[in-house]
Amino acid sequence: MSGPLMSPDSLTIGVGRAHGKAILLGEHAVVYGAPALAIPVPQLPVTATATRRPGPVSFAIARPGNPTMTLLATEGLRHLVAEFQQRAGIAEPIGADLLIDCAIPPGCGLGSSAACARASVLALADAFDRRLDGRQVFDIVQVAETVAHGQASGVDALTTGSASPLLFQAGTARDLVAGNGVLVIADSGTSGSTREAVDLVRRRAEQAPAAHEEFVRRVAQLTEAAARDLEHGRLTALGERMTENHELLRNAGISTDLIDALVESALAAGALGAKISGGGLGGCMIALAGEPAGAEAVAQRLRDAGAIRTWLVSHAR
Ligand code: PMV
Repeated sequence: MSGPLMSPDSLTIGVGRAHGKAILLGEHAVVYGAPALAIPVPQLPVTATATRRPGPVSFAIARPGNPTMTLLATEGLRHLVAEFQQRAGIAEPIGADLLIDCAIPPGCGLGSSAACARASVLALADAFDRRLDGRQVFDIVQVAETVAHGQASGVDALTTGSASPLLFQAGTARDLVAGNGVLVIADSGTSGSTREAVDLVRRRAEQAPAAHEEFVRRVAQLTEAAARDLEHGRLTALGERMTENHELLRNAGISTDLIDALVESALAAGALGAKISGGGLGGCMIALAGEPAGAEAVAQRLRDAGAIRTWLVSHAR
């Protein structure tokens, strides 16, 4: 398939979309083959617009709190363009301006890098009139994610394009039908580097392999049970497993004092469970509430306890 002809006065524009994600259970252990339970966060959208023009691909990104487009060409996105070109079978160098409008705060564990990468691939495919299947999009996003995180399980690459909660394991995912329950996401206000966090867990795996194996085994058990709880609407049990997962992540050195305090505040405000979410070393925590009024109360308590912003997410059927 060849792309449409381009003349200087007929620019070809492509658009790609993705959104944020939050991990309910299983982060870090998922890098070592355990399952992870993740939900899309559609209220944090990313839209990428690719405008074809001669010359190399340039990137500009607008983020929350920084609406002015800033030029950005992360290593991950550079690799993404090369991978797209190769997989799309485009022999000649491609040129485009990529503008990424990203509502996801970076370094928060909400999937900012994967969502920007996914939206960019889809925008490039649209602009260059290439049809990519889901697997190809995933593989290209994974190239950028692996550069960004050092080691990437793929849970972000899939959930940032999914309409439903996912049980992800080893590169594939099953859609889950979620029962009731409202998730509160709270930003601790300090960003954490996923790459550093993944590296910290890797070093611990080398230094204390037995403890690491036990961590992965226990998280895998919790996550599988939590997926069944989610589907059957057993919110109390789901919440308890989330809190236990937090303890395991805290013991692995992934949490911060502020996030531990936010977890305590959420539980004191009536949350059914609470934990750090995503890469950690800062970023976001999540809490589960039974219904919207309870979720509002938990969100208020989290803001009083130092969270700089909160979001409510519901995937009730
Ligand atoms: O992008 P983050 O910060 O939500 O981290 C993704 C989850 C990890 O398990 C820490 C890494 C991965 O690739 O699975």
